[in-house]
Amino acid sequence: MLAEIDPFYAMEINRLAHRLTGKIVIHMEYGQPSTGAPKAAIACAHQVLDSDGMGYWESRALQEGLAAHYRRCYGLTIAPERFILTCGASPALVLALSAFFAPGDRIALARPGYVAYRNVLKALHLVPVEIGCGPETRYQLAASHIEMLEPAPQGVIVASPANPTGTIIPDAELQRIADVCRARGCMVISDEIYHGLTYTGPAATMLAFDPNAFVIGSFSKYFSMVAWRLGWLLAPEDKAERARAFCGNMFLTAPSLSQHAGLEALEATDELEAHVDVYRTNRDLLLKALPRFGLDRIAPPDGAFYLYVDVGHLTDDSLAFCKQMLMDTGVAAAPGIDFDPVDGRHFIRFSFAVSTAETEDAIARLQPWFAARTKP
Ligand SMILES: Cc1ncc(COP(=O)(O)O)c(C=O)c1O
Repeated sequence: MLAEIDPFYAMEINRLAHRLTGKIVIHMEYGQPSTGAPKAAIACAHQVLDSDGMGYWESRALQEGLAAHYRRCYGLTIAPERFILTCGASPALVLALSAFFAPGDRIALARPGYVAYRNVLKALHLVPVEIGCGPETRYQLAASHIEMLEPAPQGVIVASPANPTGTIIPDAELQRIADVCRARGCMVISDEIYHGLTYTGPAATMLAFDPNAFVIGSFSKYFSMVAWRLGWLLAPEDKAERARAFCGNMFLTAPSLSQHAGLEALEATDELEAHVDVYRTNRDLLLKALPRFGLDRIAPPDGAFYLYVDVGHLTDDSLAFCKQMLMDTGVAAAPGIDFDPVDGRHFIRFSFAVSTAETEDAIARLQPWFAARTKP
């Protein structure tokens, strides 16, 4: 049985953006930092290229560095070998789902949510149980959603801060989710890829509430190393060995060069916090400007670098809307159908991981466009 995998429509917008002539495009369609890797990471990579043959390798120093990072950020003591180093969060998700679930298992997740969750689940012959989450829970899963599912799912994916909304699940709700999952025998996979990128207070790790949760992390977002393909699966103590065995068979090891550079990135706090300051400024500018364009149905993002905006008063077709907006204004955004096949036709997602000058330019271009817009 071949699973139906939906395309990533933001890529269609990106391709269209690259075909546009005569317009400088502001790329707000992809969730990727426009800044490069930290300076020390790049310097380290140059040095490694000149001096190291590089081969299959799992860096103990990086595992220890990540353990220190968790101690510093969350006050948790974690054995370094529980970090399985992967080529980003994407393989870490595949790893957790393929090593610990069986075909046909039901996995609950929020809708809207990151497009790959649904598609990876389908590709692995797992069953996505999508839970429509609206403004009342700031588009996030709540324990009550999981409580109501019959039969209980085998797994639950939580993401806080989330893509596409940037909203954070409050600590008390994370605790309730952990309790319900424990009581109902569901394993929790917590995608914490946007940790570090927060504006309203730090995001708690699911591990603080459920020591048996699988946690997914990455160097792609806060550490600004998206194309270096480096991340981790933090597995429960009794499951790390199995996860590592699966990882070796499916992916071998993460790039050696990136592992060396990643270790340096863990220490580049001043540089990385300066990026967060830029995102915070961009977020605030957009949150102030968009309501002036009639776009006021937004859950203000607590983290990540996204604004998920309800444009239902203007369109029933978010893909066509994003294409038109791009062609008319040169501002590229992602259509909501990437994140929500049911209600996403009424939403678009802006990524504000661009410069502040680009954010200001985008606002200036969008203002007259939205002012002239009514639903066809
Ligand atoms: C929520 C979420 N999880 C995982 C990923 C995959 O990230 P990576 O580049 O680490 O594979 C992304 C990428 O945008 C994401 O938004």
